[in-house]
Amino acid sequence: MVEASDLVTVALDQLLPRTDGPESRLTEAMRYAVLGPGRRIRPYFTLETARMLDVEERAVLRTACALECIHAHSLIHDDLPALDDDDIRGGRPTVHRAYDEATAVLAGDALQSIAFEIMAHPDTHPDAQLRCELVRKLALAAGAKGLAGGQMLDLLGLGADLRTVARMQRMKTGALIAFSVEAPLVLARAPEPERHALLGFAQDFGLAYQILDDLTDHEHDLKPREPLASKGSSPPLPPKANFVTLLGREAAGKRVDMLISQCHAHLDVFGSAGAYLRASVDFVLDRST
Ligand code: IPE
Ligand code: IPE
Ligand code: MG
Ligand code: MG
Repeated sequence: MVEASDLVTVALDQLLPRTDGPESRLTEAMRYAVLGPGRRIRPYFTLETARMLDVEERAVLRTACALECIHAHSLIHDDLPALDDDDIRGGRPTVHRAYDEATAVLAGDALQSIAFEIMAHPDTHPDAQLRCELVRKLALAAGAKGLAGGQMLDLLGLGADLRTVARMQRMKTGALIAFSVEAPLVLARAPEPERHALLGFAQDFGLAYQILDDLTDHEHDLKPREPLASKGSSPPLPPKANFVTLLGREAAGKRVDMLISQCHAHLDVFGSAGAYLRASVDFVLDRST
């Protein structure tokens, strides 16, 4: 995990622009967001899945970097006052606190752009059609049917039942995690049974990861979020629902255990080649973190 994280951080440092002059405020904010203390979980899964599928490393590393730029973009915007209004991320001031709101909006925008620039560049893969497929899949994962759409549902706070919350999480968090294993599948031109197994794996992992994040937020007793739909209306709607508020801590924890077992079961089809991914699930979802 540490090795994968370092590889990606070094590559990101090289790919992200440095500029002179006043616009360096923007490129510095981009670098602040991306090169900070993120856990690099999505790139890690991209690299480990690629290793399992025997994909050429250069293509994988650039894809992992593009994915991390989209992730960083989503976190910068997620922390803004208009969304979650958070001042601290990973123990440091959020981008709009370290810089200012306008710079944070622009840094998020520019990170989204550079992700597609990296992905579409011929250095990523000689086959233009394959690059195009990766670009399309990343765009889908980040857009209205994926991350951005999930964020909208989350902000509206409409999820009062498990089905709705699960759909929201699948879009908000699951789509990018799914891309982290889908990209190596595309690069490997993997057969259908492998695609099916790994996409199931990613879906269960993504959900478990989000529930653990909600459990951590719950533990730290973070301020309950007011849904957008209730702003200015009376009476106000109840606070936003997630798996922990709906199920309670114990049942949410059991749900995570069940999802972890399902993750392992999905990897059965890969036999011993799946050992690293198996180990990474346990490592990333370590309940003590
Ligand atoms: C945070 O993602 C938001 C969620 C989707 C739970 P990560 O937990 O991967 O954030 P970093 O990159 O390690 O900061
Ligand atoms: C993070 O979601 C943002 C995205 C998934 C795009 P949350 O708002 O639930 O996570 P944290 O707690 O800020 O990391
Ligand atoms: Mg949020
Ligand atoms: Mg947030």
